[in-house]
Amino acid sequence: MTSSPEAEASGRSAANSVRRALKRAVNETSRDVGGATVLLSARGTDLADLRQHRWTGQGHSPGGRPPAGRDDVLPQGLHATDVPPTTAPSEQPLPGTPPLDVSGQVVAVLGGTGPQGRGLAYRLALAGQQVTIGSRTTERAEAAAAELGLGITGFDNARAARGADIAIVTVPWEGHAATLAALRGELAGKLVIDSVNPLGFDAKGAYGIRPQEGSAAEQAAALLPDSRVTAAFHHLSAVLLTDPAIETIDTDVLVLGDTRSDTDIVRALTARIPGLRGVYAGRLRNAHQVEALVANLISVNRRYKAHAGLRITDI
Ligand SMILES: NC(=O)c1ccc[n+]([C@@H]2O[C@H](COP(=O)([O-])OP(=O)(O)OC[C@H]3O[C@@H](n4cnc5c(N)ncnc54)[C@H](OP(=O)(O)O)[C@@H]3O)[C@@H](O)[C@H]2O)c1
Repeated sequence: MTSSPEAEASGRSAANSVRRALKRAVNETSRDVGGATVLLSARGTDLADLRQHRWTGQGHSPGGRPPAGRDDVLPQGLHATDVPPTTAPSEQPLPGTPPLDVSGQVVAVLGGTGPQGRGLAYRLALAGQQVTIGSRTTERAEAAAAELGLGITGFDNARAARGADIAIVTVPWEGHAATLAALRGELAGKLVIDSVNPLGFDAKGAYGIRPQEGSAAEQAAALLPDSRVTAAFHHLSAVLLTDPAIETIDTDVLVLGDTRSDTDIVRALTARIPGLRGVYAGRLRNAHQVEALVANLISVNRRYKAHAGLRITDI
């Protein structure tokens, strides 16, 4: 079926007005940070959902479509199905990203018996990565590994670290220094990804703590001088990671580190989890505000009953 040039022009104009409205919506919900923009996103709040928010003023609906009967608030002549599809940010390779195959790397998740560690272990193993869970006791590690399946194994933290190429640190801040100090030998030469958020909680909610070294990541670098320390995964919700009903997690992961080849490996590992995009976000000396930003996300989650993530726009 063909359409007249007038009809096509009218469709294009309507589509352009939706694009402009979307751009306004994005600008209204984002904060400028030196040219790039940090877009706080509740789960699934990509552009498709922002469209829906403008249509309904409400939250999500299955399939990301406006409910029937709400076409009346669209520009005249434009129906929900006419809105041009968008490409998810995670499907677009960042400029200058080298193709890196990290599928053969063994990943140990230290403190992997908690929700965050389990979630990361589950997602990475699901993607085909060989994963080991570490714990202070072999029994707890084995139990968590058996529960998750997917070929995941469980050992004490030292043995897990020794057998890994990459170690992700998911212990609580309170146990961070002692855990890493004890693993200096086992982690020598390894790529370490610190995901720990030093946080305090009081009657007013969560707040970021500034460690003496500047950040948890810098404390890790100080305690592990023979390792390649990076930081990432601070803003990933354990609830989303551990929910097997969720196939894609809609968020960017800020990756920090002082060596480009290492942050590229972390970004490649991140990209193995559907929906995630690893974005280089600076050197370790800038890790504190990234770690502390979780306090803001906790406030977002409480206010909006969400599992918020982040998107960096314009890249
Ligand atoms: N939960 C989230 O949504 C989330 C999101 C992003 C980042 N994070 C960060 O990820 C880390 C882990 O979070 P989580 O909620 O999974 O924590 P968690 O459940 O409190 O702790 C994780 C595991 O660490 C071990 N552990 C507990 N206390 C320890 C100590 N004093 N020393 C050494 N190991 C200890 C425990 O394993 P064993 O008893 O088996 O050793 C525990 O299962 C935190 O630093 C958090 O800031 C969490």
